[in-house]
Amino acid sequence: ARVVVLISGTGSNMAALLDAAADPGYGAGIVAVGADRASAKGIVRAQQAGVPTFTTPFSDYADRARWNTALAERIAEHRPDLVVSAGFMRILGPEVLSRYPVINIHPALLPAFPGAHAVRDALAYGVKVTGATVHFVDEGVDTGPVIEQVTVRVEPGDDVHSLHERIKAVERNMLVGVVGRLAREGWTLEDRHVRLGSAEP
Ligand code: GRF
Repeated sequence: ARVVVLISGTGSNMAALLDAAADPGYGAGIVAVGADRASAKGIVRAQQAGVPTFTTPFSDYADRARWNTALAERIAEHRPDLVVSAGFMRILGPEVLSRYPVINIHPALLPAFPGAHAVRDALAYGVKVTGATVHFVDEGVDTGPVIEQVTVRVEPGDDVHSLHERIKAVERNMLVGVVGRLAREGWTLEDRHVRLGSAEP
């Protein structure tokens, strides 16, 4: 399967996908990495790996729809079967979502703590367990069907940084596992319930 990865920052999840995809048995190939800002550090990592990259800065467009249209066109150049939002800090619109299945990695156990400050919000709430979620993207903010979740305990003395680092360690493994399975087995989606494997039960 051909996979385009979208990032906004460091791209550690994207890098884990690149490493996994180096194995031909993985089933998914990273055909391009895109970002919404020129400063996304992960773009350099992708370039070093010889993967095509593109940048579609949000600020270059008059409105959200035009930016989404431009992004969809850049994605389309790489003919993906699946788009992975891995630390991509923008809301995708129908211009992208109607053309490609998109999955996202979120650093909390959805539906708890959606949005851009999930780790901070979980700490502030005082939960003892949080985690990470991989889900399909719909037009809401972190509302799409859940594919997989992993828990992470909040430890005494945790701050946003320490907790987020432990979450990111489990995120990487989960994302690599989910993308590989989606690529190799396909999936079906019924009433929010994701079943891996496209074969009839
Ligand atoms: C991850 O924790 C992801 O869940 C969140 O942003 C972070 C991105 O990290 N949305 P990276 O760019 O993959 O290192």
